[in-house]
Amino acid sequence: SILILDFGSQVTQLIARRVREAGVYCEIVPFSGGEAAIGRLKPKGIILSGGPASVTEGASPKAPGAVFEAGVPVLGICYGEQTMCAELGGKVTPSDHREFGRAFIEIVRDCHLFDGLWNTGEKHQVWMSHGDRVEAIPAGFEVVAKSDGAPFAAIANDVRRFYGVQFHPEVVHTPDGAKLLSNFVRHVAGCTGDWSMAGYRDAKIADIRKQVGKGKVICGLSGGVDSAVAAVLIHEAIGDQLTCVFVDHGLMRSQEAEEVVSLFRGAYNIPLVHVDAEELFLSGLAGVSDPEAKRKFIGKTFIDVFEAEAKKIGGADFLAQGTLYPDVIESVSFTGGPSVTIKSHHNVGGLPERMNMQLVEPLRELFKDEVRALGRELGLPEAFVGRHPFPGPGLAIRIPGEVDKEKCDTLRKADRIYLEEIRKAGLYDAIWQAFAVLLPVRTVGVMGDGRTYDRVCALRAVTSVDGMTADVYPFDAAFLSAVATRIVNEVNGINRVVYDYTSKPPGTIEWE
Ligand code: XMP
Repeated sequence: SILILDFGSQVTQLIARRVREAGVYCEIVPFSGGEAAIGRLKPKGIILSGGPASVTEGASPKAPGAVFEAGVPVLGICYGEQTMCAELGGKVTPSDHREFGRAFIEIVRDCHLFDGLWNTGEKHQVWMSHGDRVEAIPAGFEVVAKSDGAPFAAIANDVRRFYGVQFHPEVVHTPDGAKLLSNFVRHVAGCTGDWSMAGYRDAKIADIRKQVGKGKVICGLSGGVDSAVAAVLIHEAIGDQLTCVFVDHGLMRSQEAEEVVSLFRGAYNIPLVHVDAEELFLSGLAGVSDPEAKRKFIGKTFIDVFEAEAKKIGGADFLAQGTLYPDVIESVSFTGGPSVTIKSHHNVGGLPERMNMQLVEPLRELFKDEVRALGRELGLPEAFVGRHPFPGPGLAIRIPGEVDKEKCDTLRKADRIYLEEIRKAGLYDAIWQAFAVLLPVRTVGVMGDGRTYDRVCALRAVTSVDGMTADVYPFDAAFLSAVATRIVNEVNGINRVVYDYTSKPPGTIEWE
């Protein structure tokens, strides 16, 4: 295995991800826990992450001495390179030539880290992000690559197998970065590359058993992929100590509630409390048309219902959530300052405080596509694992203005047709999210010989990596007209269809 010591970089998890992609098991541990982790894991190699500190300041974090005495290869990245240099007798100084972003390095000497990848004399693009720079390298090291801003862009001690890079191989802007990390873990450290998602699953199952003991766990299912994968994984670990609660607010898409219930009760035999709360939610939403008021009501009511159900089953010691790494990093990296609430995202984040439960979050280290891979490993059906994201407040935020059951039913029909056509055209997986919106506007139309005066349906489809920014999906006109024709012909109450051509920003993905 590989041990990653974290010095607080925004992208430490990306290092782990690259190591996993190379088929090697790894663990991330805060730098201060390095010595204990070396004893426990007996890693074949150690990676020191980047971080925001400066080794030129007194109390900067250091790699424990055990790292350099373990007799295994060490790779220091950015801050990791700098602390390695400082600790082994080199010199690091604040630089007046700060480097951020794309840079080119020149390979000046071969080393094992570059074997089979980069050769002397070549230039390669990398991603830099640093202020300090190495000024003098420790005895036994040689410069193996340089850049304009960093004369010690990469250094190596091939005898002790210690390497340092000033750039970030873990980010995609360093095109050969993944290969470089793979070279380190497989070629230099000699890991075999037989790790897989199955191994990850087994390790997480062991962790969950250890954390939970004989305690009871409750998990709120949203119908989405993340909470479902978390629940199935936890169920594999602790069986009937887990209870799932699915609060059906009546704002789900067509067939959604049935799919979740049959998947959990049928395919997995996981105890599931299915709370039919449609009436409660829809009556509370009557007369509410302000988007934030809708979101707040739904969020609060969700918690009320969940709490009441938790009490009914006699409480629980742990609350399971499908939190992903991007959720974690966003909340950690948020640096304060006055920020504007664009929309109040509905999640169950308010629960642990109110309910005094410890959190079980087995997906915290994973990215969305890795969660999908884990879901496949757990045997979740492909159709479920590959689903588009669906927001907690559901259809309520896809019906601008007042929400009622009739509008929800109308929207469900239009949405189902739209998605059916997308699937038929083989486009579902190329799109991040696609859905229909029911507008509170009536327009005039003509059908047969009669006049119609009905609602407008808007179609939305976007591509995105993380939902933070998004581009409009460029359907061809024939596809859109076919969908429009079907919706107007088949759905009573809709006589006009429009396509939303707004990217994010300035739009958001959802309409409210
Ligand atoms: P926006 O509309 O903010 O959406 O561009 C970005 C992504 O987040 C989803 N979304 C939500 N997900 N609870 C959720 O769990 C919410 O309240 C919520 N609001 C938006 C949205 O569907 C898109 O994928």
